[in-house]
Amino acid sequence: MSQAATPQADIPQAPLSQDMVVKCIGLTKVFKDFWLRNRVKAVNAIDLDIHRGEVFGLLGPNGSGKSTTIKLILGLLHPTAGRIAVFGQHPRDVKNKQRIGYLPEESYLYPFLNAYETLEYYARLFHQKRGIRKGRIDTLLEMVGLQHVARRPIGEYSKGMQRKIGLAQALINDPDLLILDEPTSGMDPIATADVKRVILSLAERGKTILLCSHLLSDVEDVTDRVAIMYGGKIRRHGQIDDLLEQHDRTMISTPAMDPQTEERVIQALESQGVCDTSIARPRQKLETLFLNIVAEAQASGAATSGAESGGKIAGFLATGADARGDAVIEQLVATRSTGSDAEHPSESELARDESKAHEDQVIGSLTGGAGAPGPEAPSPAPQTPPQEQADTSLIDSLIQKKDEDHKPNG
Ligand SMILES: Nc1ncnc2c1ncn2[C@@H]1O[C@H](COP(=O)(O)OP(=O)(O)O)[C@@H](O)[C@H]1O
Ligand SMILES: [Mg+2]
Repeated sequence: MSQAATPQADIPQAPLSQDMVVKCIGLTKVFKDFWLRNRVKAVNAIDLDIHRGEVFGLLGPNGSGKSTTIKLILGLLHPTAGRIAVFGQHPRDVKNKQRIGYLPEESYLYPFLNAYETLEYYARLFHQKRGIRKGRIDTLLEMVGLQHVARRPIGEYSKGMQRKIGLAQALINDPDLLILDEPTSGMDPIATADVKRVILSLAERGKTILLCSHLLSDVEDVTDRVAIMYGGKIRRHGQIDDLLEQHDRTMISTPAMDPQTEERVIQALESQGVCDTSIARPRQKLETLFLNIVAEAQASGAATSGAESGGKIAGFLATGADARGDAVIEQLVATRSTGSDAEHPSESELARDESKAHEDQVIGSLTGGAGAPGPEAPSPAPQTPPQEQADTSLIDSLIQKKDEDHKPNG
């Protein structure tokens, strides 16, 4: 039973504009059963353009094909038909792996590592020098509000806290494209607001964000454009304001009026032939009320054992796709606190040079594609404990040096 996929099916033919980060044409994914019979058309001939600097929301009920679309874009799944380009490259191009951050729907975090060690593990997969690692990890922990629980094992974290550490992990390589699959699942409204704030700050810095969710209000608050999927197809897409605007109504907002003034306004409108008018007090969102109440409790000094509200955006996250490289490193080195644990530079540089091939392999395992594209990569979220491809020696060394790190004079 031959399938439509040709070996080069997902390589774009047409030149892409500089601003195009993701382009999908006729993207289709059919999952087969054990006997290779076509079973589920998870993604059905979708076209998708995501531009640099936008927050794009992929919406849809469970099973509509959002996560499959994301995995196709990441090169974790091979399309049955259609084409994909990410930064103008094949989705499995290893150069892309360093430019993409991914928070999978299910975070696979090592429960016995603490938040700091978890981020250190991923930073080491990207072969970041110790000084850079430390600065990035500290700022990311602060950004997601987990710095005060950074030494607690992840296994003790709530689901929402684990999502936050997953978000920090997705940002450790300062990606240009951030792909978030249900980022706020399991989060309380405070954590959700934090994540939305981070998304908006990242967008302000010129990052491109693909966000998929079935939580409509989350998407509504942060996205520029959305596509609504159902049954593997995009049913509607466009600017969120255009999609939501009710073209047949007009709303006027004024400071609160007394009843007599309201009556006169209605009469004036009716004298102009405008009927079917109503006047009502606007309601704030329940989310706003909730956050205000919590903020008041916090201001009065009430304690919590959970995550704190996050801090400002991590300084190392570069602005836009072109601001990468030396400037980021300079900034990091400059803002870094005087390093008590600075590594001997020649040692780390040597290690970096020697391990270029290894780096590609490990980064490949992070985003699941690795060097050699196999026919299909069914499981591989980047955070999956890399049972097969993993550099488990990193974990081992982390655990071994844990006690040392906790000594005051390490
Ligand atoms: N690995 C797989 N094998 C078989 N079917 C799958 C696989 N992954 C997803 N599907 C099916 O594809 C459809 C879309 O799934 P998914 O993309 O996860 O939806 P969403 O993320 O919108 O909830 C569902 O019917 C799901 O059962
Ligand atoms: Mg999903």
